[in-house]
Amino acid sequence: STVFLNGEFLPSDQARVSVMDRGFLFGDGVYEVIPAYGGHLFRLLPHLQRLTDSLRAVRIPDPYTETQWSGILEELIGENPGTDQSVYLQVTRGVMDRRDHAFPLGLEPTVFAMSNPIPDPDPALAERGIAAISLDDIRWQSCHIKAITLLPNVLLRQQAVEAGAAEAILIRDGHATEGAASNLFIVRDGTLITPPKGPLLLPGITRDLVIELAAGHGVPHRENAIGEAELRTADEVWLTSSTKEIMPVTTLDGRPVGDGRPGPLYRRMHGLYREYKQ
Ligand code: PDD
Repeated sequence: STVFLNGEFLPSDQARVSVMDRGFLFGDGVYEVIPAYGGHLFRLLPHLQRLTDSLRAVRIPDPYTETQWSGILEELIGENPGTDQSVYLQVTRGVMDRRDHAFPLGLEPTVFAMSNPIPDPDPALAERGIAAISLDDIRWQSCHIKAITLLPNVLLRQQAVEAGAAEAILIRDGHATEGAASNLFIVRDGTLITPPKGPLLLPGITRDLVIELAAGHGVPHRENAIGEAELRTADEVWLTSSTKEIMPVTTLDGRPVGDGRPGPLYRRMHGLYREYKQ
């Protein structure tokens, strides 16, 4: 595939980054994942706004304007196959002379982007849903920053996979926050509930879209903390992300969610989402 690295488009097997890059040595950087459907970047501006917020939070200067970012990403998807693609971009603090936790001022950020085809959604997903397990949230206190430092998320997801599940739902101080790489929604008595934004979860772009669709179509919804007991007795549980859209969770810790099948509100929202995507 063709990738973008520091101002250049080149074949992925020719792209090289220094071993002194702070992304490599410290995980010192931020990232975004943006879907492109039919050659168009989906919800691009909110993704770029979140990138700006992440960069500002970790004090890395934004290397490009919004217009420059869109130009780069559009060119990237044009250079790569597949009508539906998922763009990954990351900005690290740059390459240092010697290893030092504190960062020297005036480093040139390293900018990398790649794009891969999105596989067609598995029809079995909407029929059967996915399994999830609940795990203690072992991450830091700034989960609203989309940092490339993902070791806790990697370990949590791996634990889920080894338990035969597709995702881990994270519990902090008795409350369910989000998934290892997704946001959380539950349905209780016909109302859609998702935890409010804050430092303990990523402000997902798909999450915002689901709330927007609920508001636009008269689906009762609120942003409220979700206690562990509420999660376990929910009628429906969903997880959302840019690459997976809306996933109905039908098994939680080996027990069925609701009647163990994707629920009616999931079907409705899935339909609204599909329609919106067109
Ligand atoms: N992850 N929460 C976490 C911790 C995430 O990593 C993600 C996305 C989300 C969903 O956000 P959005 O709807 O904006 O994709 C929530 C991406 C896809 C990833 O790391 O690959």
